[in-house]
Amino acid sequence: MNSSLPPKEFFPRHIGIIMDGNGRWATQKGLPRSEGHKAGAKVFKKITEYAVDLGIESLTYYAFSTENWRRPPEEVTALMALFREYLEEAEDRKLENEKKGMRIRFIGETDTLPEDIAHRMETTEQESAGKNAAIVNIAISYGGRQEILHSVREIARQVASGALSPEEITQEHIESHLYTEGQPELDLIIRPSGEKRLSNFMVWQSAYAEFWYSDVLWPDFTEQDFNRAIWDFAKRNRRFGGV
Ligand code: FPP
Repeated sequence: MNSSLPPKEFFPRHIGIIMDGNGRWATQKGLPRSEGHKAGAKVFKKITEYAVDLGIESLTYYAFSTENWRRPPEEVTALMALFREYLEEAEDRKLENEKKGMRIRFIGETDTLPEDIAHRMETTEQESAGKNAAIVNIAISYGGRQEILHSVREIARQVASGALSPEEITQEHIESHLYTEGQPELDLIIRPSGEKRLSNFMVWQSAYAEFWYSDVLWPDFTEQDFNRAIWDFAKRNRRFGGV
C-alpha cells in the first residue's frame, strides 16, 4: 500500500481540477505566459497518468473557460496549439490509453473551437468511447452556467413539444442534459495558485464538493500535492446537509 495515500475506499470518485497559476509561473521566470501554459499542459498529462493509475474514476480539468476567449489573441492561439498537440499525441497514445481503460471526453461549447480541433476531439472521444476504467473530462470553451442553460433549453423543448409538463421536471432531468451525464457528481475540487473561487466551473456538479486550495502554481503541482488533497478529502466528514 502507498502510505502517502488513504485506503482506496476513502478516495474521491470524481475530482475537478482548476489548473490555475500558469501565467504567474511564467512571469516569475521572465517568460511569456504561453510558456506557463506549456508547462501546465505537461503537469496535466503527468497528474492524469498518476490519478488514472491510482484508480480515480472521474477527473475533470478546467482547461479553457468561455471567458478565456477574451484573453489576448496570441495567448488564445498558444492554448489552441497546446490542445491540438495533445490531440495529436492522444492519437499516438491510443493503445496505451486503451490499456489503461481511459475514456477521454471534451466538455463545453466545442462548436466555438477551430474546426480541426473540434474534429480531432470528436475522433478522440469516439475512439475511447468504450473504455470505462477512468473518465477524463477536459473542459474547453466551458462555462458552468452555460452548461445549465443548455440543459434547461433541452428540457424546455420537451415541454414545448408536450412530452413533459413543468411539474414533472426533476433534478434528474437537468442532470441528464449536462455534459457529465451518468458520471458521479464532484467530490473534490483542487485549485492551486492561492485563488479561492469556483470561477463558473461545474456549478451544478459541485453542490456538495469539498474544496482543496494550495498556494503552489499549477506548473509546480506534483503527485505529492495530489496525495495531500486526497488525504485531506479522506479526513473530512461529509454530511450532505444531514447531522
Ligand atoms: C489559468 O491560469 C489557466 C488557463 C487559462 C489555461 C489552462 C490550460 C492548460 C494548463 C493547458 C492544458 C492542456 C491540455 C492539453 C488540456 P492563468 O493563466 O490564468 O494563470 P494566472 O492566474 O497566473 O495568470
